[in-house]
Amino acid sequence: KMKTFIDALMKKMTLTEKLGQLNLPGAGDITTGQASSSDIAGKIKQGKVGGLFNIKSVEKIRDVQKVAVEQSRLKIPLIFGMDVIHGYRTVFPIPLGLSSNWDMQAIERSARIAAIEASADGINWTFSPMVDISRDPRWGRVSEGNGEDPYLASQIAIAMVKGYQGSLTKNNEIMACVKHFALYGASEAGRDYNTVDMSHVRMYNEYFPPYKAAVDAGAGSVMASFNEIDGIPATGNRWLLTDVLRKQWGFKGFVVTDYTGINEMVDHGVGDLQAASALALRAGVAMDMVGEGFLLTLEKSLKEGKVTQAQIDAACRSILEAKYKLGLFADPYKYCNEERAKTEIYTDAHRREARKIAAESFVLFKNANKTLPIKKAGTIALVGPLAHARTNMHGTWSVAADFATGVSVLDGLQKAVGDKANIIYAKGSNLVGDSILEGHATMFGKSLGRDKRTKEELLNEALAAANKADVIVAALGESSEFSGESSSRTNLDIPDVQQELLKALLKTGKPVVLVLFAGRPLTLTWEQQHVPAILNVWFGGSEAGDAIADVLFGDVNPSGKLSATFPKNVGQIPLFYNHKNTGRPLPDGKWFTKFRSNYLDVDNEPLYPFGYGLSYSNFVYSDIKLSKTSLKGNETLTASVTVTNNSNVDGKEVVQLYIRDIVGSNTRPVKELKGFEKVLIKAGETKTIQFKISTKDLMFYNNELKYIWEAGDFDIMIGGNSRDVKKATVNWTK
Ligand code: IFM
Repeated sequence: KMKTFIDALMKKMTLTEKLGQLNLPGAGDITTGQASSSDIAGKIKQGKVGGLFNIKSVEKIRDVQKVAVEQSRLKIPLIFGMDVIHGYRTVFPIPLGLSSNWDMQAIERSARIAAIEASADGINWTFSPMVDISRDPRWGRVSEGNGEDPYLASQIAIAMVKGYQGSLTKNNEIMACVKHFALYGASEAGRDYNTVDMSHVRMYNEYFPPYKAAVDAGAGSVMASFNEIDGIPATGNRWLLTDVLRKQWGFKGFVVTDYTGINEMVDHGVGDLQAASALALRAGVAMDMVGEGFLLTLEKSLKEGKVTQAQIDAACRSILEAKYKLGLFADPYKYCNEERAKTEIYTDAHRREARKIAAESFVLFKNANKTLPIKKAGTIALVGPLAHARTNMHGTWSVAADFATGVSVLDGLQKAVGDKANIIYAKGSNLVGDSILEGHATMFGKSLGRDKRTKEELLNEALAAANKADVIVAALGESSEFSGESSSRTNLDIPDVQQELLKALLKTGKPVVLVLFAGRPLTLTWEQQHVPAILNVWFGGSEAGDAIADVLFGDVNPSGKLSATFPKNVGQIPLFYNHKNTGRPLPDGKWFTKFRSNYLDVDNEPLYPFGYGLSYSNFVYSDIKLSKTSLKGNETLTASVTVTNNSNVDGKEVVQLYIRDIVGSNTRPVKELKGFEKVLIKAGETKTIQFKISTKDLMFYNNELKYIWEAGDFDIMIGGNSRDVKKATVNWTK
């Protein structure tokens, strides 16, 4: 039916109208690049626009759709996209934070709520999930992804696609766009938009899996990345966009560029705009975001034989198919329901879910002497530039957020204690002081408000509050502008002015809880040594302050686990748990040995490993029990442990399964995550957790890029993080 409909429509279309479908201008409500689009309404009437993105409000979307379906010759509806990345108006934690939740149902639910709200405001296509693996926290966009691990990131990719798309039939289900295809998270030196160069074996084993998982889950579209791959920009890379994506993975949707991705190929050095546009079309790109290279040059390229009519038709068809699948031909206003916009956005129910999900995404790094939870009694000094920063709770890419209604830590704490405790708030310092980031103070200051008082005045006020308190809560770290697109850093410390404040607070001798705001793994070596309690709250979204209060007061027991390694210093980067052993590994327990793979000035261990996160409960793991130790072919292995909650508080634990393939035709990582389960274990209770393992879990891409498993010995490891595991060994023959 779809084919017949589109065949008939395409017969009526002129070349200009076909090229128009490939054109995606930005509406300008949100700007994410330097170029912008002009005379959009005029172009829509001429059939020169296929969709529009980052336009806010159902009323505006209805108006624009009306122009398309009433004033253009063929009345083809537009598709409306937006960067709905971690929620819409109800904002969830930044993706790196959300991925620390490890509860796939919760993550799917966050995408579902985002889809309900965005679609109620007219949006039917989101530029999410972002599934770029990254092992370099200098890269600002590490905040937008799911960390360093291909298995975890793949599970999240599937959950997000399901949450957004559902059956893609209802008016509250929207099309997903997997990005940034591919390898964007591996940009050299963590500098945004930089070059990527990696072996195909690494691509297939470590970086491709989450994109593939999203495609397998039915994602309707894919966004090409800014970086190059094998020396050819992804946007013009036919091997990537056609051979891998369509032929190997069977992708049936459409490919959109990133913002001016085609135009930027001129600077990459592939030729002029005409050459870049032709290269992109031939590679498999269908939609050109903002740059209009397709609209301006493809007709000429067709005449000159640089592209074919079949290539233009294929691109146009893929976009019409997406519109058809979204039901826009049947009802162009399917997503324009002003009543829904009034009743389904930022509802109490959505906010409650966001609060719960945020609280369970926070990661407890340290809790000496049970400093946490704190009591709702006595006097609490709440100090720091992030303690009462409502506009700063949401994190990067919160394009539909209402920043003014963000719940700050102070708001959350005050609501939680009522008149049971006395909270004294003091800002304590500005966000940045004498560091190199000072140069960006205006930009960062905009979201936080730069205090005109002197450093000493701010500090004195904080110390006065601290001296009166029973406990000090210091809300410090990055502002949301420190991470996200175009926000790479080379120094990952908490800005020095805030460190000075922290040191002064510790000198009071009062218990200090560091509530850490972070859009990436930071270097916290000093803080880990000196601060009694550290709770990493990422950027928790619109309900952050309430969720933080829930955890600080123990109404929610923290259960987040890191999806990305926290290094001890920047020199260790890239540092990730699933590395290779090398020919000269360090002997066990050593931190330096001459002529071994290590550093003179820091050991090889991270500060906090992948999978790490504490709880107010204490979980004790038994040894691993295996159903057998020798297996053959398609047999299934059951590996189990018991986990006891040896405390008087109920808690959730993420039990993690890792496997090491000890000998391989291609050297294998020292461990790889292959399963996990987030379980509630009541105080004093013991639960048995079982993992079923088959040869599917042993597979990898070998040097010929064949997906295989090889017979031999395998270490089976289970634990509460990637470092502290129980181990057993099995032999698996063909
Ligand atoms: O979706 C984004 C992408 O992640 C970065 N560049 C701009 C796009 C559209 O806003």
